[in-house]
Amino acid sequence: MTRTVYVNGEFLPEDQAKISIFDRAFLMSDGVYEVTSVLDGKLIAFDGHLKRLERSLSELEIRNPLTEDEWLSIHRQLVEANGITDGLVYLQVTRGAPGDRDFAWPDPETCPPTVVLFTQNKPGLAESPAAKIGMKVISIPDIRWGRRDIKTVQLLYPSMGKMMAKKAGADDAWLVEDGLVTEGTSNNAYIVKGNQIITRQLSNDILHGITRAAVLTLAREAQMEVVERPFTIAEAQQADEAFISSASAFVMPVVEIDGAALGDGKPGKVSARMREIYLDEMRKTAI
Ligand code: PDD
Repeated sequence: MTRTVYVNGEFLPEDQAKISIFDRAFLMSDGVYEVTSVLDGKLIAFDGHLKRLERSLSELEIRNPLTEDEWLSIHRQLVEANGITDGLVYLQVTRGAPGDRDFAWPDPETCPPTVVLFTQNKPGLAESPAAKIGMKVISIPDIRWGRRDIKTVQLLYPSMGKMMAKKAGADDAWLVEDGLVTEGTSNNAYIVKGNQIITRQLSNDILHGITRAAVLTLAREAQMEVVERPFTIAEAQQADEAFISSASAFVMPVVEIDGAALGDGKPGKVSARMREIYLDEMRKTAI
């Protein structure tokens, strides 16, 4: 089946969708994105993703080209058209295609934002075997720019980080700045010590994960103590457990950091429980 995608107001077969070579995202990474997961044909934490989209756009002074109802309707139409039961909806908004290359921003009156959405089919997304095995991570320096709170499409360093992890026989990388973990290449990072769940506080240094917000609320409701502060790799290696969170991985246990196994090297109880609670709650509130 050919995938149906959305480009600038039109639903099209993917091989007929076109974007200008002058698009600002293509030339300058001048665009933002969101990834929303789909379980049982429904959108997970959709509201949070739209709110963060709004914020990313406003930080870059790009006009939000669609209303909340329009965003929801496009997401639902794509899920339907592509028969997605479990998977992802990717959306991207760029500053548009001014028809030439120029560092200065084009006039928004004459250069409307570009809007692209597509789905990715991931049957059994929530039943990933990795959740039972756990992930191995390595640490690498965080050399990204200083506005990681804006979800831009500048993903070259996160891609390089994933490749460094792969070459090292690991699954992902945690980024370290000034001796402290910021986050994963495409996820937020946590450690567990006793009854405490520890994760870096929100700032421009990390992406404000939508999954992170839900996980912390649910952890507090489950009588865990949430501590928002940075931690080192050495502290993480000594922790009882570690895990990551993102829209596509949900909550995923980490069992090894830079070659050092955590505890018995198996996914921990708190991580497993948080994954379960998170998925239960998200299925209940999916739209
Ligand atoms: N990545 N930190 C970074 C750097 C991320 O790229 C992501 C998400 C997160 C987690 O955010 P959320 O819980 O809202 O997904 C944290 C997405 C999934 C991606 O790039 O595919």
